[in-house]
Amino acid sequence: MPEQADPMAGIPVDPAGAGPSQHTDVDRVLVDEHQLRERIAQIAARIDADYAGKDLLLVGVLKGAFVLMSDLLRALESKVPVDFMAVSSYGSATRSSGVVRILKDLDADIEDRHVLVVEDIVDSGLTLDYLLRNLRSRGPASVEVMALLSKPARHKIEVPVRYVGFEVPDLFVIGYGLDFDERYRGLPYIGTLRSELIPEH
Ligand code: IMP
Repeated sequence: MPEQADPMAGIPVDPAGAGPSQHTDVDRVLVDEHQLRERIAQIAARIDADYAGKDLLLVGVLKGAFVLMSDLLRALESKVPVDFMAVSSYGSATRSSGVVRILKDLDADIEDRHVLVVEDIVDSGLTLDYLLRNLRSRGPASVEVMALLSKPARHKIEVPVRYVGFEVPDLFVIGYGLDFDERYRGLPYIGTLRSELIPEH
């Protein structure tokens, strides 16, 4: 193959001038890139087996699940269609109130289909509880949940989660799609934010 021209050639690389790195605001890494990849591959294999021969639709919950959704989809063998819902829960930056607003609904009709909701984290469980009740009212064949993270210490309501990536302690976590004030979603691992950067928790 002919050698490719470096597309970055001529663009000055100046880390010091590129603005503060998102990594420097991280206190601890709780789940690293390797662990994420391994666990998602395991769960993908289970989903492939559990839904073999079934009409499955993956429903990603925006915004937090978009990174997970992209990796999960590529780890699956089956050619599963995807759809997204965007919800916002009223509450403070770090706590949800359980009052959920649908900002973007599904494009697809889910009647008689098997739905797997792909969620970033089950914290209080209130958002998911609302979402599940809403989706079940549309007559799907089944509704199950995959959540990358779960914080058992904070659950206010029991929601049936079929596939859980990792249980994490009661700490505010960021990265791999999870934000604080819309930032840090691009961190390739799950970490905690330095406490002085969190106004309340
Ligand atoms: P829940 O309704 O309390 O279960 O959580 C609703 C949403 O809040 C989750 O889907 C996340 O998007 C967000 N959330 C909850 N805990 C965290 C966290 O520790 N970091 C970032 N986002 C979180």
